[in-house]
Amino acid sequence: MLTAEDKKLIAQAWEKVKAHKDAGAESLERMFMSYPQTKTYFPHFDLHAGSEQVRNHGKKVLNALDSAVKNMDNLSQCLSELSNLHAYNLRVDPPCFILQLLSQCLQVVMAVHLGKDYTPEVHAAFDKFLSAVAAVLAEKYR
Ligand code: HEM
Repeated sequence: MLTAEDKKLIAQAWEKVKAHKDAGAESLERMFMSYPQTKTYFPHFDLHAGSEQVRNHGKKVLNALDSAVKNMDNLSQCLSELSNLHAYNLRVDPPCFILQLLSQCLQVVMAVHLGKDYTPEVHAAFDKFLSAVAAVLAEKYR
């Protein structure tokens, strides 16, 4: 459960993160590198460094997270279509675990860009938030 303080920290930090337009692509690159099994979901993508497809996909991920930050109290509804896509079409499996792999990489990218502003409190708040996002993306599997 996100507290009022968590929500404030997330909203403030997110404004700084999203100024880095390639933060999504950087997170995906880290995910593909650190967790190579995730590449199997993207057989139709060029996954080499600097790939335009990864860059574009990163922008989509950032936009989705931007909506999620703006709708923190209503994540299920806000991410409903994305949840259908990941559950019914993509069948990312096992859902919560693998969705968290991208969350971990996003956290590292945020820490790199925010530096000292990525305090333990911001880290903890984002951890809760990204877990909630992953739970929504996985909820249709049941
Ligand atoms: C597509 C967000 C995690 C696999 C997408 C799209 C978004 C998105 C916004 C584009 C949807 C569209 O085009 O309408 C997210 C978020 C995640 C997440 C916010 C977690 C925080 C993952 C993970 C995997 C994955 C962990 C697999 C390892 C895919 C694939 C597509 C996709 C294969 C389709 C790509 C394409 O063909 O264009 N995701 N995603 N996603 N996602 Fe995710």
